[in-house]
Amino acid sequence: MLNGNLYMAIDVGSTKVCTLVAQVTSGGELEIVGTGVVPSRGMRKGLVVNIDELAQAIRASVEDAAEDVDRELPGACVGVTGGHISSLRTTATLSNLNGSDQRVITRREMELVVKHSYPKLAPGQELLHVIPTHYTVDSVHGVRNPSGLKGHQLTVDAHAVVGEAASLDNIARAVEQAGVTVRSMVLEPLASAEAVLSAEEKESGVILVDIGGGTTDVAVFRDGAMVYTAVIPVGGYQFTNDVAIALSVPYESAEIAKLRHGHAVPEMVDANESVEIKGHEGELPHLVRSRDLCRILNDRATELLRLVLLKVRDSGLQTMPSAGLVFTGGGANLAGWTDLAKEMVPGPVRIAAPKDIPGLPSELKSPAYSTSVGILLWGINHPTEQQAYPHRNGQGLFTRSRWWLHRLGQFAGSRS
Ligand SMILES: Nc1ncnc2c1ncn2[C@@H]1O[C@H](COP(=O)(O)OP(=O)(O)OP(=O)(O)O)[C@@H](O)[C@H]1O
Ligand SMILES: [Mg+2]
Repeated sequence: MLNGNLYMAIDVGSTKVCTLVAQVTSGGELEIVGTGVVPSRGMRKGLVVNIDELAQAIRASVEDAAEDVDRELPGACVGVTGGHISSLRTTATLSNLNGSDQRVITRREMELVVKHSYPKLAPGQELLHVIPTHYTVDSVHGVRNPSGLKGHQLTVDAHAVVGEAASLDNIARAVEQAGVTVRSMVLEPLASAEAVLSAEEKESGVILVDIGGGTTDVAVFRDGAMVYTAVIPVGGYQFTNDVAIALSVPYESAEIAKLRHGHAVPEMVDANESVEIKGHEGELPHLVRSRDLCRILNDRATELLRLVLLKVRDSGLQTMPSAGLVFTGGGANLAGWTDLAKEMVPGPVRIAAPKDIPGLPSELKSPAYSTSVGILLWGINHPTEQQAYPHRNGQGLFTRSRWWLHRLGQFAGSRS
């Protein structure tokens, strides 16, 4: 983090686009100097469905954020998610390091072994991240940072995140069309984790669940590193849509009813209470028992929690990690969410908002902005030397991602 440097993050969500601009003060502190939040358009479930509309929304958000910034904007770190993202474990070994003599392992060998662990990709796929989870030096397992150790053989176990090249490229092009250079891309739950999880939680084991508008992103951390990621194509949109369909009201009215009167546990709502929900054009308002509204939300919430627990099982965890589940994202604001989660999850649960950063407006200190703040922190904590998105120079995404991976390998390898 360099004094005076500007950093920019763009969170292109299904519901909103949020741009944050931050600078490092002369005292070395990070301070947010610009924010822009606008409704998202052209995005569905983490995928671009209309690039021009999305570019317009991004441009509006960036313009708002730039209003109080009197310097040229830097390239942005951009978050990505969506059903096209998958993750897998990968491993590689470097044997016979430097001939027959044992030698001291340096960053060079660490980078090399991480590069060897890159998985083979199907056509049209692209590597987004390769995160070393631990190394093995000869017969010593579970080494976090092998740099400086002597050994004949170095093995890395890593977690690779793969996305569809076209989907990643669509997001990057929408940002570029809005006049911003893409400096790096980060998987959204990995970013959210930067904003809401403590080092102790990641160390002892924790599951981060980000309930957005279009997707719910799950990330499992153990021994300080992310070991599993999954994207569930269900978010706040489906909650609202269920209400709209079940009560035959417009989506917008259902959204207002959910935000104002929604609750994940119907029994916790007054049995005699009713709410008015605006009907379709020309219709009288619908008078609905609050509990009936909440039953619809409870069905969806229960199903989503089940899907999350299935993903946790898929991750290979035998038991619930000691720090349990941490929920974030706008969907986690549903009243009663913690009560329902406590009933269903065999471990601790909490709802998290992003860490406070000087200059962060109070309305952004909410779970809906954890990813936005996390993207900013990720961009700062994982600097790249690359100043421009090279797509325009004729280099493909593949080249770009390889370069990121190289840097990531270096960084992750340098954890103590
Ligand atoms: N109080 C609340 N009760 C229920 N749902 C809420 C509440 N506040 C926000 N939401 C829901 O949160 C969702 C938006 O969350 P968020 O801003 O995290 O999504 P996003 O980042 O735009 O989407 P994604 O990450 O899926 O691309 C909306 O569906 C909204 O209805
Ligand atoms: Mg989001």
